[in-house]
Amino acid sequence: MNNILKISSTLLALMLIGCATNPDIIIDDFESGTYNKWTVEGDAFGATPATGSYAGQQAVEGFEGKHLANSFNGGDDSRGTLISQEFTIERDYINFLLGGGMNQDTYIELVMNNESIYKSRSVVETETLQWMTWNVKEYTGQKAIIRIVDNQRGGWGHILVDQIEQSNTEKSVFMVDHELAFDADKKYILVPVDDDSPESVIALAVEGTPIGVPMYIRVAQTERIDYWIPIDIEKYKGKKVTLTFAHAKKTDKHLGDIRQSDAFNFNYDETYRPSYHHTPLYGWMNDPNGMVYYDGEYHLFFQYNPYGSRWANMHWGHSVSKDLKKWEYLPVALAPDSLGSIFSGSAVIDKNNTAGFGKNAMIAIYTSAGKSQTQSIAYSTDKGRTFTKYEHNPVLADPDIADFRDPKVFWHDASGQWVMSLATSQTITFYGSKNLKEWNKLSEFGEGIGSHAGVWECPDLIPLAYNGQTKWVLFVSINPGGPNGGSATQYFIGNFDGKTFTADKLDYPLWLDYGRDNYAGVTWNNTPAKDGRHLFIGWMNNWDYANSVPPLNFSSANTLVRELKLVHNGKHLVVANPPVAEVADLRRNAEKIGTKQVDKTYTVDKLLRDNRGAYEIEFSVKPKGTDSFEFKLVNIKGENIRFIFDLTKNILSVDRTKSGLVDFSDNFASSLIDAPLAAKDSYKIRLFVDKASTELFVNDGEVVQTNIVFPAEPYNSLVFTTDGQAIEVEDINIYNLN
Ligand code: FRU
Repeated sequence: MNNILKISSTLLALMLIGCATNPDIIIDDFESGTYNKWTVEGDAFGATPATGSYAGQQAVEGFEGKHLANSFNGGDDSRGTLISQEFTIERDYINFLLGGGMNQDTYIELVMNNESIYKSRSVVETETLQWMTWNVKEYTGQKAIIRIVDNQRGGWGHILVDQIEQSNTEKSVFMVDHELAFDADKKYILVPVDDDSPESVIALAVEGTPIGVPMYIRVAQTERIDYWIPIDIEKYKGKKVTLTFAHAKKTDKHLGDIRQSDAFNFNYDETYRPSYHHTPLYGWMNDPNGMVYYDGEYHLFFQYNPYGSRWANMHWGHSVSKDLKKWEYLPVALAPDSLGSIFSGSAVIDKNNTAGFGKNAMIAIYTSAGKSQTQSIAYSTDKGRTFTKYEHNPVLADPDIADFRDPKVFWHDASGQWVMSLATSQTITFYGSKNLKEWNKLSEFGEGIGSHAGVWECPDLIPLAYNGQTKWVLFVSINPGGPNGGSATQYFIGNFDGKTFTADKLDYPLWLDYGRDNYAGVTWNNTPAKDGRHLFIGWMNNWDYANSVPPLNFSSANTLVRELKLVHNGKHLVVANPPVAEVADLRRNAEKIGTKQVDKTYTVDKLLRDNRGAYEIEFSVKPKGTDSFEFKLVNIKGENIRFIFDLTKNILSVDRTKSGLVDFSDNFASSLIDAPLAAKDSYKIRLFVDKASTELFVNDGEVVQTNIVFPAEPYNSLVFTTDGQAIEVEDINIYNLN
């Protein structure tokens, strides 16, 4: 007993001596209220340390004492650097408090002999500072400096730092630059994802050489795993592959489960996987991109995150179809690079080799979204299977506009040039080029016309014929500001002379689809001349809730492919967008119900004998003298979606408030979804249902409502109701589609 006491008191004494001889060394806690210990560049950090937040900034928390270094001086757009005096490394760790943005250009860095030893960013975007630690044991006795850098404009373009100290105690729970190493001998590295975890920033390297840019992956940190994603490493077999986590936590539950595998199985609950609409196999999808027809194939590229079901890591995914009905998945076409991630754009076939990449090269024109947004090109000479990025990208640089993106390019024969429509904040700017590499501004359209309630995105300018005359139609997606909230696509009808687009005087905004879920759609380039169709596809989602919709293992589908046509609605020209004719070939096992006179209500009890939630219903309604009628789809749980025709107000409303799962977002089903409806003697209806979507086409696509739904069971009955006056419902046909 005595001995034990003696030993422990000796230990205690030793520890006390240790503390006394090795106290923490403060590099700076900014409490002097000056930057005397730093060289200050730029204006982002202000003339002196901050005392908390600046005007326009959320409350800054978690710093010590009264002062901290805060680069929000002048807002997110200001830039600057603090460079410390040289110091000698005398302890095992450097601890500091860190907050602010997690982008690549705001960081704190340890530099020795002009070499960056550590570079830290915040773990999540936050105004609450957290402890970070660098392990510097191996550098004892060496000289170093610290640089605090804010070189980022825009959202979260700032950094917060306080209490930089040398210590023998590691204060952070984060492991900075944590490395997982693999001797690659399988196809994939599988990573567990939890969609509610913050993003881990993970760099891939092969034999120490970085590959691509870091990936943002919501690696599961607690017990919960939503799904797994694969990182393709097949081509590195036999080599050393490392994943370096900018920050891993010592408490992370699954770092040890990240493993190599030859198999990547989808063993998921696929309740909401559509059966005849295009979806990504796994991962997140948004805008359709680069649609082009070539040599028997319709190409569909799309905004794609291969590492999770939420928006991040924008690549171009790739699918092809020979018939616009069935899609085949191809490998990712374009991956992020040092210019940024790959945002939306288009593709053309360069029949006359204007760019010099070869006759008939497929050339993608897309936005590189990095520090700023610029336009780049890449070409393929193997039918889109592989792309090479042009070595002198970008081809169109940022004229200092934050939203400068989504190039849609076509060959304009009359003026003998390529014409690009580009979304430039709240206008569309047209550029011309002879070779896709040098672009000159032609004109700008949009001021004072149409809806300006949000950012303009994804333009498309196409000629459409009406009665033998050619009109030009400019489509512009806008978010937010859609007629029923969030994202939607407006259009303008007018003329284009090779330089300027002039809109006819109409009652703008006009909307292509009044439903909530048809966004960022554009048309195919190079469709077969003999068929002369303008084929369109949209993203069946809305930025209002896209990042929270079920299911988990993939996100989003596209609309049906539609044919754009100019028609007269009785008042003026409008763009109709019925489904392409090919869709009718998907019909199987028609249930023909015939014609019914509906006095009050009429129910089709059972839609189909084998109803898997993927079908088309068609009929025509003659409203006769009625003021309003509706039809609704209902499932055995009573969940339903209603289509209400109000013929006194001339509005067609969709009610999805009781359609199934709705509470994943406050504004998914908060109100009716309205479309204007021209009075007609007869309404020809085609309603497409595909597990989690409804597309309603009235009178050959003159009025369209696309709305997604998440019913627990397929809707299996159809109920017609009138306000009391009889209506005639003609030729009710129901088709299984697959
Ligand atoms: C539209 C959009 C585009 C952008 C892309 C990024 O939905 O915001 O403007 O290029 O998504 O994924």
